[in-house]
Amino acid sequence: MGKNVYYSKIANIYDQTRWLTEPIAEDVADFILTLVEATPETTFLEPGIGTGLNVLPLVRRGYSVTGVDVSQEMLNQFCQKLPEMPPNLELIHGDASQLPFSDTSFDVVLTVHMLHAVSNLEIFLDEIDRVLKPKGFYLNAQWITPPARLKFEQHFRTILSKYQAPVPAQQPRRVTNGINVEDYLRDKGYQCNYLIAKEWIVSNQVQELLGFYRSRAYGLCWLIPDEAFHLAIEEFEVFCQDHYGSLEAVLSSQAQFEIWAYTAS
Ligand SMILES: C[S@@+](CC[C@H](N)C(=O)[O-])C[C@H]1O[C@@H](n2cnc3c(N)ncnc32)[C@H](O)[C@@H]1O
Repeated sequence: MGKNVYYSKIANIYDQTRWLTEPIAEDVADFILTLVEATPETTFLEPGIGTGLNVLPLVRRGYSVTGVDVSQEMLNQFCQKLPEMPPNLELIHGDASQLPFSDTSFDVVLTVHMLHAVSNLEIFLDEIDRVLKPKGFYLNAQWITPPARLKFEQHFRTILSKYQAPVPAQQPRRVTNGINVEDYLRDKGYQCNYLIAKEWIVSNQVQELLGFYRSRAYGLCWLIPDEAFHLAIEEFEVFCQDHYGSLEAVLSSQAQFEIWAYTAS
């Protein structure tokens, strides 16, 4: 299943199955505003904005925010968080590989969990470079998966691999350029700073996480057909009961919001 279709299918459970809560997003927004020395006129663009988890605090504080997303369902989820469409928010349904903006339009471009979905990274980074104002910031970010959830996922992957259909010999070739983002942007004259914007503890009961997997909230849950997935999840539940002792066991570990901040030198 293509990534874009996948996000549309899970749009209504995206937020609850991730771990960036609104209070954490508020703290991250404080960090970003300080980092970019924002003024009330600072303009933000988030390609792959999804349900708006990262930028909702900026919108609520009155900053100009533009978002592009290929999934209308993800954008609809964002809209539902707002009583009405505020004048400082523009949402565009489309492919962010070609940004429909003039040169030097934005002070800050933010991408979060997005670059892996782009088919041609060089073209995408060229587009970001084009739409950024001189001295603008490109912030490439991700919220690192809390280790306990990563371990949980690894257990599921092991079980899933037993049910996975063999990959067909003739796969269509991917067009992604395997480039190093940092090297590519340095060559364009950017300086890079790696920053941790926020660390926080994420806790979930095992049965809650199992429920997320049952809902097929993550990409790996779409790797096999429905019937095989059903068998895999049943086996995983038995494994969890045995491995964690109880489905009510709580898994806690630390998440991080990390940012690679690029500034044109
Ligand atoms: C993992 S989600 C991240 C959403 C949001 N940035 C966040 O951190 O919650 C990836 C998002 O990128 C969108 N996306 C993927 N490829 C895209 C593209 N080429 N153009 C625009 N949006 C894209 C998906 O629809 C999805 O909403």
